Parts: sequence; structure tokens; C-alpha cells
Amino acid sequence: MQVLDKEALVEEPGKNGKKFFLETYGCQMNFSDSEIVASILKKEGYDITPEASEADVILMNTCAIRDNVEQRTRQRLTEFRAFKKDNPSLVIGVLGCMAERLKTKLLEEEDLVDIVVGPDAYRSIPDLIEEVEGGQKAINVLLSREETYADINPVRLSENGVSAFISITRGCDNMCTFCVVPFTRGRERSRDPHTIVKEAQGLFDIGYREVTLLGQNVDSYLWYGGGLKKDFDKAADDQKSSAVSFAKLLELVAKVSPLLRVRFSTSNPQDMTDEVLHTMAKYENICRYVHLPMQSGSTRVLKQMNRGYNREKYLERIKAIRTIIPGCGVSTDIISGFCTETEEEHKETLSLMDEVAFDYAYMFKYSERPGTLAAKKYPDDVPEDIKSRRLQEIVDLHRKHAGESNQRDVGQTYEVLVEGFSKKSTEFLFGRSSYNKSIVFPREHYKPGDYVNVKVHSCTSGTLLGQIVK
Ligand code: SAH
Ligand code: F3S
Repeated sequence: MQVLDKEALVEEPGKNGKKFFLETYGCQMNFSDSEIVASILKKEGYDITPEASEADVILMNTCAIRDNVEQRTRQRLTEFRAFKKDNPSLVIGVLGCMAERLKTKLLEEEDLVDIVVGPDAYRSIPDLIEEVEGGQKAINVLLSREETYADINPVRLSENGVSAFISITRGCDNMCTFCVVPFTRGRERSRDPHTIVKEAQGLFDIGYREVTLLGQNVDSYLWYGGGLKKDFDKAADDQKSSAVSFAKLLELVAKVSPLLRVRFSTSNPQDMTDEVLHTMAKYENICRYVHLPMQSGSTRVLKQMNRGYNREKYLERIKAIRTIIPGCGVSTDIISGFCTETEEEHKETLSLMDEVAFDYAYMFKYSERPGTLAAKKYPDDVPEDIKSRRLQEIVDLHRKHAGESNQRDVGQTYEVLVEGFSKKSTEFLFGRSSYNKSIVFPREHYKPGDYVNVKVHSCTSGTLLGQIVK
């Protein structure tokens, strides 16, 4: 077992006098990765700076999930041109999924970029910076079968000091036909549970009160002593018998302290077991909230997406969630206008939404990603204006459901973990209920990290407003 590096918790001024600026795009996993990158650089004596203008190294941790995210990143990159003019030795690096997807192409297309680093190669960043300082461009986009960064104690970049992300798996084996992630993040592998529990314990000890366990498909977490998920069948018998499943891991983390809230994302409908739901029900500190991406309400479209479930199976999972954990919050991801989606099939998405009534949803227009199975096999044939109109219908319907969900909370009292000041006033605090709803309430003498009971008296479209009750 690898031991976590306690030293990383101690703040020391940078030894090499250089500063790095790190900007993150995309998912929670990327934010978690940025904390690993920051830790690697700090260990090498670099200091982090919030000002790109005073950095010696600018790093962008990028996302490739949709074309518009990539375009935004390229746009942002151009803003760094002026800094490079003022400081020709400035090193600019592109990390993450866009780096992995485009590889050397990125160096060819963007003259500002000096370094390209894929998600499994972050340990090599300090060496790559040195190469650039020696006058070359540098790239490492090797994907790994083992890398989980398990021994690295991430530098926490989130500001609240209350909630943190912990990566538990890397990569994805699911091969949804629309998705670039299996190509940019490689094969699925799970991280040693001891290092996960140790990280959670370490966070609790320094005042954190919530951890979110992260993976593309957390339910398929499986630790049997290392190796790829797909090679589990070939493992030795003793490895198999002592394997740790996601339900078991969840329990281990929940036991760190009843005061430590545990969340997780993302659950996958075909892999989410009742065992996980029963574990949630057993531990009050595992939050009553599941993010269960549906993508589409049409069984035919789901099949073409290579999602491993159909409409009925999805509904069956929702029923299981709501039976085993009454009142559980449920959110989802939805894609509008996937290849060959008909009007009828779009209506099936709307009707599935009506049947479930999600508390929260992330909704996207289908964006063809080069190299994916969908890009190779299916025509991206839903016209842009129809994709947009369908997305708008999905958004409008979701807004109605979310509003009704918030209305149902009015009059209820929830335990809230205080995360910080409300955006509008320091006289108000905000935090979340176990069900993942944001609640704003008058501050009194409370502070981030405290638990308070709040009675909801009203709501806006996105937030609940309440009053502390004792
Ligand atoms: N692993 C997670 C999600 C990863 S990506 C899962 O199991 O679903 C996050 C979301 O982005 C996906 O759920 C999907 O809704 C959306 N997405 C992924 N690829 C996309 C694409 N090519 N176009 C539009 N949306 C996409
Ligand atoms: Fe992508 Fe499907 Fe994995 S959406 S991240 S291939 S579960």
C-alpha cells in the first residue's frame, strides 16, 4: 500500500521561485485532477498564483466532451498571447482531455502552446517544463494501465475548506457511442481503497465535512490489488475474494465519521446495484442524492448510444432508488438530437422526464466528437435548429419539474452543511441539504463547516430560502 504524503499539507514557499497559474474546464474529475497537478508542481518547488499575468507557467486543464467547450478553451488561449509577448520565457501548457484527443495536432494548430499533457502523464509535467526551458516543445500523452495518482495528496484548490473531491476510478470502459472519454482517459482502473479512506480521514481531520467520490462510472469501482477492471476475471482467487466493491468502499468512507458527508458521481443505470442503495440507506451521512444520467427516453436511441439499459430498466432503477431511499434527490444528463433521433423519440425523452420529474438536470445538444463510434457509424443528421428546439423543450420541461420540486420543500426542515456566504450578501450563509439542494439563510453566528437545521420558507427557481430552527 502506498502512503499518502503528509508533507503536501504543509505550506512552504516555493523553492524554485517560479509561479504557475492553473485554469480548469469541464467536469468535477478535471477539478480533482487539477488538485493533483498542483500538488505535483508544488512538490517541485513551484508556487501557485491566481494571476495569469504574473505566472512563469500557465496550464489549462481542458475538456473535450463537446465542441463548444474546446472552442472556448481555444478562445481563452488567445488571451494569453499578450503575456507571452511581455515574457517570452512564459511556458504555456494544455493538459487533460483536449490534449489527449489532439496530441501533436495541438502543437501544430496553436503556436502559443509549448506543452501537451494527457490525463495519465501529469507526473511528467515538471520534466516537460524543463524541456521547454531548454528550447523545445514537449508532449506526453501516454495513457496508462496503472496510474491512479493514489500516493499523491492533492493540494485543495476549492476555497470553502468544507467540501472536497476524491477520485476513486480513472478512465471508462463503457464506450457510449457519442462519448470521447474512453479515448481521452483510457481504460478503467480503480484506486487502492486504503488511500481513498486515508485521504477522506485526512480531510476530515483538517476540518472538511463533505467528500464527493468521483469516477465516470462509480458503481463499477472494483479493487482487487491493482490492474484494469476488464482483467478482473484473470485475477487470483484470493484477490477475487478480498475484492472491494463500490458499496463496500462507500461504507468504508462513511465510517470515517458520522460528521463527514459522503457524495458520489456518476452512477450508471446499468451498474447501479441495490447493494449500493442499501448502503446509502444504512448510513445517514451518505447523502440522499443520486446523479443517474438517462441521455434519452427512447430505447432505440439508447441502444444506438450503446448505453447498457433501456427505458424500462432506467425506470426500474429510479423506482429502486425511491423505494430504498424515500425522498432521494435525483438528477440526470440528457442529450438532444443524437444521430437519427426522430420527433417521436424526442417525445419519449420528454415523457420519461415527466415520469421521473428530476430535481436537477444537465442538458446538452449532441455534439459529434471525431473518432467516437457515433462519428464513424452514424450520420449527425438532426439539423442544428431542430436540436436547439428540442433542447429548449427539454430545458423548459425540466424547469417546471425543478420548480415543483422546490415548492415541495417549502415548509420542510433540512439539516444543512454550511459552505460559505451567499452570493448576494455576507449577512446570509448558504449550504446544501443531504438532497443536494442549495439553501440560503441568515448567518447568525454560524460558519462554514457547521451543521444547522433550516426550515424552508420560500424558493426561487434555483435556490431554497429558509430560517435556522433550533
Ligand atoms: N460518465 C458519465 C458522464 C460523462 S460526460 C456518464 O455515465 O454518463 C457528461 C455528460 O456529457 C454525459 O452524461 C452526456 O450527457 C454528455 N455528453 C457526453 N458526450 C457528449 C456529446 N458528444 N454531445 C453532447 N453531450 C455529450
Ligand atoms: Fe462517456 Fe459513457 Fe463513460 S458517457 S464517460 S463512455 S459511461
